[in-house]
Amino acid sequence: MESKKPLVAVVFGTRPEAIKMVPVIRALQARPELSTLVVSTGQHKQMLAQILERFRIRVDHEMDLMEPDQSLYRLSSKAIAAFEQVFLKDRPDMLLVQGDTTTAFLGALSAFYGKIPVGHVEAGLRTNDKYFPFPEEINRRLITCCADLNFCPTLGNKENLLREGVPEKTLHVTGNTGIDTLLLAAGMDHPFPLPDLDLKGKRMVLITVHRRESFGEPMERIFSAIREIALAYPDVEVVYPVHLNPNVQKPAREILGTVPNIRLAAPMDYFDFVRMMSKAHLILTDSGGVQEEAPTLGVPVLVLRNETERPEAVEAGTVRLVGTRREDIVREARLLLDDEGERRKLGNASNPYGDGKAAPRIVEAVLRYFQADP
Ligand code: UD1
Ligand code: UDP
Repeated sequence: MESKKPLVAVVFGTRPEAIKMVPVIRALQARPELSTLVVSTGQHKQMLAQILERFRIRVDHEMDLMEPDQSLYRLSSKAIAAFEQVFLKDRPDMLLVQGDTTTAFLGALSAFYGKIPVGHVEAGLRTNDKYFPFPEEINRRLITCCADLNFCPTLGNKENLLREGVPEKTLHVTGNTGIDTLLLAAGMDHPFPLPDLDLKGKRMVLITVHRRESFGEPMERIFSAIREIALAYPDVEVVYPVHLNPNVQKPAREILGTVPNIRLAAPMDYFDFVRMMSKAHLILTDSGGVQEEAPTLGVPVLVLRNETERPEAVEAGTVRLVGTRREDIVREARLLLDDEGERRKLGNASNPYGDGKAAPRIVEAVLRYFQADP
């Protein structure tokens, strides 16, 4: 009699998790030796729906957890009960989680409670600062405690885990799956998403800002800096697709809403956003994913944070950490806007995050795990 195929569940809840799990789901579904279960916590609603629609991902279990301005307490307590229901119904043989969100952490913890092996996609990123980023640094450390397989984007990520005593046989350096998705999108012919934005003779500066540890004063300082830059450079068009978090929406509209050369937009379709990144003169961001993507597209990035768990692009010279002080952000942006040689130097560095084949490597390691398991 034919034995049952291992059932691999993949969970995501936020926009970046879905973007980075798309190639993993596709690679799993291409393997006849495995069955795949797609689980969404719905931690994000609209921003997740955009991605699922774009990549035609069919969700088997939708938990639909998002609440407006949700607290970590409520989201976490609802998630753990919802995971129990999924595991009781389908009893997967492995759960793959991605990154460091509440979805990823509660997925890993719930799987541990169910004695279900955990594979961690994007493992080994660290700032070693408990509150930066908040709560992600602790989320990823706790996921490591639950993980049976660790898929590290870079050698540096693997070394972080070895230093923490994680067994080497669980570690696989794969590259970041976000680069798999990016190369897929960047290779497609896609129209410029803002046809009414006339960029003739203009330079476009693209912004994304959303991190919890920046809420309040740091975010206000960031927005004041962006305002100052836009007012000082009339030949610059600032485009900012604003994250739907109300803690971001409100100050963004208040501080940036009335500046003529700042365009506040809705969160963009992924393909639209990739097109915008590739057209950008400069990107200012606190996003993890954008820090990884921009080097592949050759666009310089100023990171609006004091620390990063992604030192590779800083070392490669394509990303600069500028913090959240208004004068530092303005000074560094001015440097790149005034000195084309300096800007090109940043844009020309290479991409340290992978070759676009991370997902097939992950699936090979998952298969080997089941073959080795008695
Ligand atoms: C979450 C992740 C963060 C990740 C980010 C990506 C945690 C703790 N944080 O942060 O690691 O970098 O996603 O974007 O897991 N909202 C909507 N519609 C949406 C999405 C969000 O209205 O489609 C609003 C809701 O009011 C929601 C709020 O944003 O309550 C916050 O969402 P949440 O997932 O808790 O935090 P993020 O700041 O998005
Ligand atoms: N992104 C997008 N539309 C936008 C802004 C960003 O599709 O309007 C993509 C971006 O290319 C990257 C991901 O969303 O792949 C980053 O998500 P986010 O900044 O929400 O989270 P983080 O990367 O900080 O966890």
